[in-house]
Amino acid sequence: MLKGKRILLVIAGSIAAYKTLDLIRRLREQGVAISAILTKGGAEFVTALSVGSLTGEKVYSELFSLTDEAEMGHIRLSRQAELVVVAPASADLMARMAAGMADDLATATLLATDKPVLIAPAMNVMMWRNAATAANLALLKSRGILTVGPNSGEMADGESGPGRMAEPAEILAAVESFFTASGVLKGRRALVTSGPTHEAIDPVRYIANHSSGKQGHAIAAALRRLGAETTLVTGPSMEPDPPGVSVVRITSASEMLAACEAALPAEIAVCAAAVADWRVADPPTAKIKKAAGAPPPRLELVENPDILATLATPGKRRPALVVGFAAETGDVVRLATDKRRRKGCDWIVANDVSPGTGTFGGDRNRVHLISESGAEAWPLLGKAEVARRLAERIAQHFSPVSKHEAAQ
Ligand code: PMT
Repeated sequence: MLKGKRILLVIAGSIAAYKTLDLIRRLREQGVAISAILTKGGAEFVTALSVGSLTGEKVYSELFSLTDEAEMGHIRLSRQAELVVVAPASADLMARMAAGMADDLATATLLATDKPVLIAPAMNVMMWRNAATAANLALLKSRGILTVGPNSGEMADGESGPGRMAEPAEILAAVESFFTASGVLKGRRALVTSGPTHEAIDPVRYIANHSSGKQGHAIAAALRRLGAETTLVTGPSMEPDPPGVSVVRITSASEMLAACEAALPAEIAVCAAAVADWRVADPPTAKIKKAAGAPPPRLELVENPDILATLATPGKRRPALVVGFAAETGDVVRLATDKRRRKGCDWIVANDVSPGTGTFGGDRNRVHLISESGAEAWPLLGKAEVARRLAERIAQHFSPVSKHEAAQ
């Protein structure tokens, strides 16, 4: 499926560059042509000789090289590929991309490109957690830069945590996902919420629920595969970022609302998050102490904003199709049907979250898709399959052909 595609691969300075050699091998096996730029930092970890031997092409590294400019200037380099992949993307290169610098071949090419850019960050855990890196990443994502990883785990420097470059197979999957987006939803923007929210009781405790983010993340991935430019706003979740999706991580319901509003306009909104209905009215900034003999603290709760109902409110910024989820125990279809009307969404996906169903946190889900025209029962399916079917239905909703057919 990747045969005949051309990628521009930028290799920056990180120990993870050794994995890029395996990535090149896997891409070549799929028939991808690769032009590579090796930065000065990248060349400290892998040689131009090994990169060039695997790509079978010249490796570029100098911005002002007469030979290179004659053969392939940086503007041409940036234009002839269909996708630019930066792997590893070091903290330094991300900072220089965010700042719009162009003082070497890699940054000049990235600034000049008119093609989508996918970055695979790789750095020490503290560098990844640094506010400067977080701000640079947020800026790059807001400009449409796609990301894959990083993963968490043991680092080459002995520390452990997030910052490990995604594995070559994951980067390959992100590249495949980019090229295989079928395009039915191309040009449309989608917003998906996922995961739980955490509402602070004090600085160390919070109110939460068992949502894993599996269902919401799968929906974002499925919409992206159909070509939608997708933003996923997720509460705390261990799920990896879906390839090609712009991911915004938040903690509380109020932050989720703000992130969703910032992601508008969108034509499609799918709210699969399990948002806490209440939060503590005024959480103290110091830890609540347990005093001997004192009664347990009483928590005063206030209602959280309803993100789904807010998105579904009629107005200029309302997405054309707003899909909610209903997590019910008991009379699932009736309760979800009422919920659809109350919240003003177009469709609602009802799932039974009674004990023993494993809907929260599990891999499978049995849902009803409820719209104005009634409830449709789907069989027990894997969450990825629920997501795929839902994305297909959304695509049909927007397809002029299906509307025409429906009118026949
Ligand atoms: O994350 P998983 O482990 O994969 O589990 C998936 C899931 C069970 C969480 C998911 O399939 C699901 O049902 N999500 C909705 C959970 C929920 O909070 O349902 P609800 O019936 O309480 O809320 C109804 C709708 O309003 C939902 O779309 C919810 O996102 C939205 N809502 C609720 C409260 C609130 N303050 N803001 C909201 O947007």
